[in-house]
Amino acid sequence: MASGIDVRVLDDAATIAQEAAGLFAALLRDCPAAVLGLATGSTPELTYAEMGRLHRDEGLSFAQARAFNLDEYLGLDGDHDQSFRYFMQKHLFDHIDIRPWNTFIFDGTARDPQAECEAFEAKIRAVGGVDLWLLGLGGNGHIAFNEPGSASDSRSRVVTPHPETVAANSRHFADPSEVPAQGLSVGVGTIMDGRKIVLIATGAHKAEAVARAVQGPRTPACPASLLQDHAACTFMLDRAAARGLSA
Ligand code: GLP
Repeated sequence: MASGIDVRVLDDAATIAQEAAGLFAALLRDCPAAVLGLATGSTPELTYAEMGRLHRDEGLSFAQARAFNLDEYLGLDGDHDQSFRYFMQKHLFDHIDIRPWNTFIFDGTARDPQAECEAFEAKIRAVGGVDLWLLGLGGNGHIAFNEPGSASDSRSRVVTPHPETVAANSRHFADPSEVPAQGLSVGVGTIMDGRKIVLIATGAHKAEAVARAVQGPRTPACPASLLQDHAACTFMLDRAAARGLSA
């Protein structure tokens, strides 16, 4: 069976941000109480800036929306400047009218992290599931903190990021030894349950992972390849990230 992923190669990161934010805007205009699935990482920053602009300049409202994030570092409080909660406040939530109580991110300081994961899954179910997940892509094919080896039906759980991921993320920390060794992450199955998925990737350093995800075998060895089985998954890429794809 051919890959089910719809691939769009766009001019540059700014165009990807416009198109990806545009998908969320269209969803919210159609369904103001939509359930948004959000990601961290450098790649989505421009998309969040565009969502903020759409709110400021074009009246796009998030007032009834609910938002769930993919992952969080275990051990970091939401006030820590490297926590994903802090990132979301800084890049998106502080610039739009989403209600704080409608933003759901794992509590990295939960006393019982596995119970926190189960509660997170229950909250997603309680709101009727995620309408649209925004994903980034790890250089080794990870999505959220679902590293190679993650099963297609995996659920929210405590995870140990691959050393390659820890090394990549250490650029954000003053001292690389401060990068938490573990995280909390939704599973591949949690992502697959979303009604739509848009994955954004830019740059030549993502090209190999993109090619494996889109045209490689569906395998937990490349978690993003499992998205081939989703009925409504789009990859938005710049030319550099798409350069490993064959016609
Ligand atoms: C992190 C996150 C992922 C993200 C990936 C790529 O490990 N857990 O959700 O997609 O890195 O990040 P970037 O967009 O900075 O390349």
